[in-house]
Amino acid sequence: MNDLELMQAAVEARKMAYAPYSGFFVGAALLTKGGKVYMGCNIENASYTPTNCAERTAFFKAVSEGERDFTAIAIVGGKGDELSALCAPCGVCRQVMTEFCGKDFRVLLGTPESFKAYSLEELFPLSFGKDDLK
Ligand code: THU
Repeated sequence: MNDLELMQAAVEARKMAYAPYSGFFVGAALLTKGGKVYMGCNIENASYTPTNCAERTAFFKAVSEGERDFTAIAIVGGKGDELSALCAPCGVCRQVMTEFCGKDFRVLLGTPESFKAYSLEELFPLSFGKDDLK
């Protein structure tokens, strides 16, 4: 799967978003080293705090099915039917990515028409991770 296809998969994933409170719909497509794609959407809650971001939905689906090695994630988001030019992952999702991915893990942000690949290192420098607990 190439980068554009992964972005398009994120757009598909976004269609399942459950976001009645914010009206901000997010989709993510997570690519494993083996070439499998796990889709995720944001899932909101009337109590707000239990809301899960699209990125974490994708990661938790994948990890719960035995996946541990990932190469890239594509993320798209926006209000209503509109896609924002860029939907950056929140800090909690960057921390979850750090748990399972190396510094060279690629994060594709933008829209299928215009997107850019960032490294996890770029998006989350000086992070706290498992090596710090050794
Ligand atoms: N959200 C995500 O799913 N991923 C992001 O990268 C940013 C924010 C969701 C959480 C919430 O449902 C809505 O977008 C507004 O914050």
